[in-house]
Amino acid sequence: MTTDLRGRTFFIRTFGCQMNENDSEKIAGILAAAGAFPAGREEDADILIVNTCAVRAKSVEKMASYIGRLGRLKAGRKVRIGVTGCVAQVEGKALTVGRKGIDFVVGPDGYLRLPRILAGAFSGPVVDTAQSPDWQEAPPLLLARSSPASAFVTIMEGCDNFCAYCIVPLARGREKSRPLPSIRAEVDDLGRRGYREIQFLGQNVNSYRDPASGTGFASLLEETARRPGPEWIRFVTSHPRNFGPEIIEAMAASPRICRQLHLPLQSGSSGVLDRMNRGYTRAEYLDLAARLRKRLPGIALSTDIIVGFPGETEAEFQDTLTALEEIRFAAIFSFRYSPRPGTASSRIPDDVPLEAKRRRLIEVQALQKRLQTDFHRGLVGRVLRVLATGPGKKDASAFSGRTEGGQVVNFRAAADVTGRFLDIEITGAGPYSLRGRIAGAADPI
Ligand code: 5AD
Ligand code: SF4
Repeated sequence: MTTDLRGRTFFIRTFGCQMNENDSEKIAGILAAAGAFPAGREEDADILIVNTCAVRAKSVEKMASYIGRLGRLKAGRKVRIGVTGCVAQVEGKALTVGRKGIDFVVGPDGYLRLPRILAGAFSGPVVDTAQSPDWQEAPPLLLARSSPASAFVTIMEGCDNFCAYCIVPLARGREKSRPLPSIRAEVDDLGRRGYREIQFLGQNVNSYRDPASGTGFASLLEETARRPGPEWIRFVTSHPRNFGPEIIEAMAASPRICRQLHLPLQSGSSGVLDRMNRGYTRAEYLDLAARLRKRLPGIALSTDIIVGFPGETEAEFQDTLTALEEIRFAAIFSFRYSPRPGTASSRIPDDVPLEAKRRRLIEVQALQKRLQTDFHRGLVGRVLRVLATGPGKKDASAFSGRTEGGQVVNFRAAADVTGRFLDIEITGAGPYSLRGRIAGAADPI
């Protein structure tokens, strides 16, 4: 059966998390290896792929309206439209019912089969949501990286935690870790190709365990930091429950592991955390944050917050505000609770009124804006090491980069500095980014 896609062009729109971005890079690489070319815009592509996120109702709504737009674009053209990612996995064939224009639906374990599907004849929508209990290895080099400076390296997928609100264990299945030799090979290759930063990805990244040897996440960090390769190492997303002291020690042992950690708190109320099935209390989270700060001074912590989980009282919500005040996160991502099909919390009444959810979200975001502005102002005058990630939006001399703590810094440079480490003096601060000027370069410009 042919898998030849020569002469075809594709466009991928990605919704959701970094793992989906990394999956889109994989899909792009798989299609390119079969002969297809990437197109710059939807109108120029004959394969249109929507890589979807199912985690919140809002992302699913955005995706649905985008698919509607693609359907209209299709009129009169020979175009194949496909849905991949978490919504594809969860909804499968149901996605094609009552919705015209979708030609294929492929879940996260089926991406290597895409060339065969696309090269075949379509007598109706093709649905491939077969899940595999084992890690699905994409052949090396089948990755069209979107950043020349920083690369995602997915090391595990799925989640066994079953937080009451979360669809991930259904969309991505049980935890499956990638074989260590394959991670090593990818990191070595990235080092040789000049990447300056890697980000290990996994829904529950710190419960990584090499399937053959049982090597855990702390050892993976230690050995990656010992080998030559990209200077900066980050990882996302960590679950507080699985964040043992050995990981803190591995971070402390190497300056290459960025002093930055995304550690979702979700709620500052122990009662809500219990109902969410998070497996820790407010006090335990605060204790973990304190131990991290003690052993890794200056670490930038970021978090996810859900407001309006079923039964969340006003007093429980206030506990979230006080936790934010106490911990002072460098950044947060905050969401209104939405029930997701098949999850434990979808079976209990979604009883916090929409108005209360909206107000709570505004309060959380206003508080965080104030805390973040204070934090950023405190950085003015300091010289920080920044990895230049690419051109900024304003004009040809505008560039953007990230500090070790993950703060975005905008600055000017006479030449293209993408992929370089620079010492930047911070000259200005807003709530969401910093401004600065180059004070020196770690490598020649
Ligand atoms: N409703 C609202 N937010 C959710 N998240 C996950 N599931 C839901 C839901 N049903 C949020 C959590 C998670 C982030 C990726 O999305 O905060 O950490
Ligand atoms: Fe979802 Fe909880 Fe797993 Fe995160 S840890 S992916 S929130 S079930």
